[in-house]
Formats: sequence, C-alpha cells, structure tokens
Amino acid sequence: MAAFGGAAVVSSRILPSATRASLSLSSSRSFFSFECLRSSPRISNLFLNQRRVSEVRVSSRRYGTVSAVASDPDQLKNAREDIKELLKTKFCHPILIRLGWHDAGTYNKNIEEWPQRGGANGSLRFEVEQKHAANAGLVSALKLLQPIKDKYSGVTYADLFQLASATAVEEAGGPKIPMKYGRVDVTSPEQCPEEGRLPDAGPPSPADHLRQVFYRMGLNDKEIVALSGAHTLGRSRPDRSGWGKPETKYTKDGPGAPGGQSWTAQWLKFDNSYFKDIKEKRDEDLLVLPTDAALFEDPSFKVYSEKYAQDQEAFFKDYAEAHAKLSNLGAKFDPPEGIVIDGSPNVQGEKFVAAKYSSGKE
Ligand code: HEM
Repeated sequence: MAAFGGAAVVSSRILPSATRASLSLSSSRSFFSFECLRSSPRISNLFLNQRRVSEVRVSSRRYGTVSAVASDPDQLKNAREDIKELLKTKFCHPILIRLGWHDAGTYNKNIEEWPQRGGANGSLRFEVEQKHAANAGLVSALKLLQPIKDKYSGVTYADLFQLASATAVEEAGGPKIPMKYGRVDVTSPEQCPEEGRLPDAGPPSPADHLRQVFYRMGLNDKEIVALSGAHTLGRSRPDRSGWGKPETKYTKDGPGAPGGQSWTAQWLKFDNSYFKDIKEKRDEDLLVLPTDAALFEDPSFKVYSEKYAQDQEAFFKDYAEAHAKLSNLGAKFDPPEGIVIDGSPNVQGEKFVAAKYSSGKE
C-alpha cells in the first residue's frame, strides 16, 4: 500500500479474520459493541484493559472496508501536546497549516458520495496525491507528523492533519479554532481525488478563479479573504511551487530551513500583517501572489481585506470560523456530531460566540 508510513498494527494480527469482520461491522464508537464483545468467552482475553480495547478499535479501522472507527479523544489530546513540542523545535507551523488546508480543500459540494466528494479524509497521506503539483513540498509535513501518527494509532490521519493545522495557528498567536474531531480516513489510494481541485496562484483571472474553486467547496467571499490571511505565516519556495524568491532578508536565517519568500516580515507570527503588507506593497522582499493581489483589486473581496487590514480582531473572528468550516469540508464524522477535545461549546450544540476566540493566544 502506498500509504505514507503505514506502521503495522500488531493487534490486527492477533485477531482471526472472523473476529476482525465482526469488529468492523460493530465499528461504531458505541461502548455497547465492546461490551457485547467483552462477554464473548472466545475473545474476552483480548479485553484485559483499555489499551487493548483501543488497539482492537484501531485494527478494525485498518481493515476498514465496512466503516472506519473514529479517533480516540485521549489520544487526540496527547497528540496535540506532541504537536506543540514539534512546533517548538521545528518551527513548522506554516507547512502544517498548508497540509490541513490541502487535505480539506479538495472538497466538491456537488458530489454527495464520500469519499468521491474529497475533503478532510486523510487522502493526502497517499503518494499519488502528494505528487499533485499543488502539493509540492508537503511530504516534509507528512514526515514530521508520521512519528506522532505511529505513537497515537487511535488518531486518524484526517484528524491528525486538522489537529496539527489548528494547533499551529493557535501556537503562532492566532485565534482559538472551534474544532471537532472524529474524521474517518479513506483507506486506499484509489480513493484520492483527481488532480486540479486546489487553486492556482497565477491564473489568467485570479478573482474568478478563486471564486470558482472556493465556491465549489461551499465557501463565500468573506471566507476566501479570511482564509487567505493564513499567508501571514510561511514562505513560498521556487523549488516547490515555483513562486517566490530563493531567499530574502527575512528568510535567509530561518528559523527552520532557511530560504523562500514570505508574505510578511514576521512569518511565524499569526496576525493581520498579511493584509497590511499587501495593501502597502512597499517591500520587495515580501511576496504578493496574483491571487493575493486580487483580494484588494476585486470590489467584493476588497471590503473584507480593508476591514482585516484595520481590525485584527475582526480578522481573527472570521478566520477562526472559516478555518473550522474548512477543516470539516467533506469529512465523514464518527460519531456524526464529532468529538470535542477541549470543550468548545459550539460543537456541543451551543451557539458559537466568535468573540471568545478572537483574543489570540494568552
Ligand atoms: C487562495 C488561494 C491560495 C493559493 C493560490 C495559495 C498558494 C500558495 C502557494 C503558491 C504557496 C507556496 C508553497 C511553497 O512554495 O512551498 C502557499 C503556501 C502557503 N499557503 Fe497558500 N494558497 C492559497 C490559500 C491558502 C489557504 C486557504 C491557506 C490556509 C488556510 C493557505 C496556507 C498556506 C501556508 C501556511 C503556506 C506556507 C507554507 C510554508 O511555509 O511551507 N493557503 N500557498
């Protein structure tokens, strides 16, 4: 299988195929299914402790021809702590955000079936999708996350990519993203979307192109502008996307691997300087892609860009909502309402009060 990494799951090997089938069929997250299985003398010795239960759940997902089980809440929390540690040493916030965006951004709202509709389903772990031109360089992000995936086999790739992206935004000083988890993974490379669903940076008519691509995802003008604000972080590299300078005064010393051209001077700090810098266009060392420039040229986009350039709180509020929406695109959740790992009220049924998320990282 061409899955990235693809660590063996030992517990899957100790189960006879009939048992695996029954586990797959009862792969809902309901405790009842495990209680039933526990009472079976034939396999009761497999349920000696919770760890074993979680391994079996994982093994049923690895064999996920019927339905994959969702992520484990405790493992999600622990994985988040490991991602925070990774960020402290590798300064990889930008590429983790780009990874989450590129897994989700293939969503096509006009296709109902999962996974044909694309979206946040972990398909980007397969080599065939990593080879899409838009994904150049993202293999580095996958390599950084694979040890965490190996450690927390009860976290799906789809969840891990979105967890890493949201954590990176928050750790860079951005707003708290009201996330939920429980995304089911696709299981084979044949389930990857075809190439060409992500946006180009230099199409003939950038504003039209952005609308074509993002409307297909079910996103609107405000969300296009807010999400583009993620370019407040990171760099473009000519050897990856073909865009940007090989290095600038802001990137020649890293942190992380040096080089590339950033959109902002402090490209590891999540703030509204992306909008301020594009508006001023005063520094040759800062990047403005044709699709970035369109945000101040198109009359409808410009309303939001001007607002975000002046009002960071407004940007943070809209960004947090748009990022959460992006992270859910096309995803199949198990359980259907998703899993909340830090008590975000909105995903448990309460109304989302965005101002709560707009004050940035404490
Ligand atoms: C609006 C259409 C978009 C276009 C045309 C676009 C294009 C690009 C390009 C060409 C790069 C440089 C990649 C490289 O050379 O390594 C890049 C990087 C990046 N993009 Fe976008 N992008 C878009 C939207 C987004 C969105 C919606 C997000 C997140 C919500 C995002 C997050 C990032 C980040 C964080 C980087 C920096 C990656 C790094 O430093 O390694 N982009 N984008």
